[in-house]
Amino acid sequence: MQNKLKIAIQKSGRLSENSLKLLKECGIDIDNGLNKLKTEASNFPIEVFFLRDDDIPQYVEDGVADIGVVGENVLLEKNKNLKLVDKLGFGKCRLSLAIPKEQNYKSIKDLNGKRIATTYSTILSKYLKSQKVKAEIHEISGSVEIAPSIGLADAICDLVSSGSTLFTNGLKEVEVILKSEAVLVANKKLGKEQQTILDKLLFRMNAVRKAKNTKYILLNAPNNKLEAICKILPGMKSPTILPLANKGWSSVHSVVEENQFWDIIEKLKAEGAQGILVVPIEKMIL
Ligand code: PRP
Ligand code: ZN
Repeated sequence: MQNKLKIAIQKSGRLSENSLKLLKECGIDIDNGLNKLKTEASNFPIEVFFLRDDDIPQYVEDGVADIGVVGENVLLEKNKNLKLVDKLGFGKCRLSLAIPKEQNYKSIKDLNGKRIATTYSTILSKYLKSQKVKAEIHEISGSVEIAPSIGLADAICDLVSSGSTLFTNGLKEVEVILKSEAVLVANKKLGKEQQTILDKLLFRMNAVRKAKNTKYILLNAPNNKLEAICKILPGMKSPTILPLANKGWSSVHSVVEENQFWDIIEKLKAEGAQGILVVPIEKMIL
């Protein structure tokens, strides 16, 4: 059997959908039949394990999986010996302290002597120490947000993304401990073949990411303005210029980065560009 790269992703939760999407955008076909523990791609040497996110760092450290997608928060909490390969730009959230919304809060000192429920006891205890606060940490494995209402704790320390979990449980965020996003981690001693497959995967991921941040732009310009317009447009090498049937006019094609986009459009218009079209790019290989 051909060697495969084993990737661990979250079975169900905030990162599941985007982790699968990431593979799909890299052209990897996976049938994500529900309730499956593992599956293989039909067109890429990869095997996907669906696991609890909290368990992923351990599995990757042990080499059961070669790589994994987890939140930085889980990575920090578990403190395993792993290689951080890449930040993935999705699953953005923060680890925060929250208390019942009707309670007054002035500073972190208000938590002295209080009970705080969390699944992130390592990060929380470090944080409390750094703030010189002495509180009782109740480590629980899930549904942390209900702890105050059932009288198990006075406060919680949990992930906040949209804030709807806090809101529906009558809690308010009072301190942000850290910000997190999804990252790709790898076992520190990957086999040669696994490393080769990982490099291929990373190459594809980069092409997808680059394309997401870039737009393809087409516009018409009078020939006497071409020089000024080309100066505004960076392009991969330089803009493409094609003559229009209409004499004295040309069509200019180029790529622009998303973050400079509006700035460039304004300048182009000021130089006399017309009929500006902007289209998404699917993949971009430099
Ligand atoms: C986190 C957290 C909350 C929710 C917050 O769970 O425990 O339940 O996300 O998101 P919101 O602010 O958008 O409501 P996660 O998906 O990480 O699952 P897990 O705790 O089971 O790992
Ligand atoms: Zn979790």
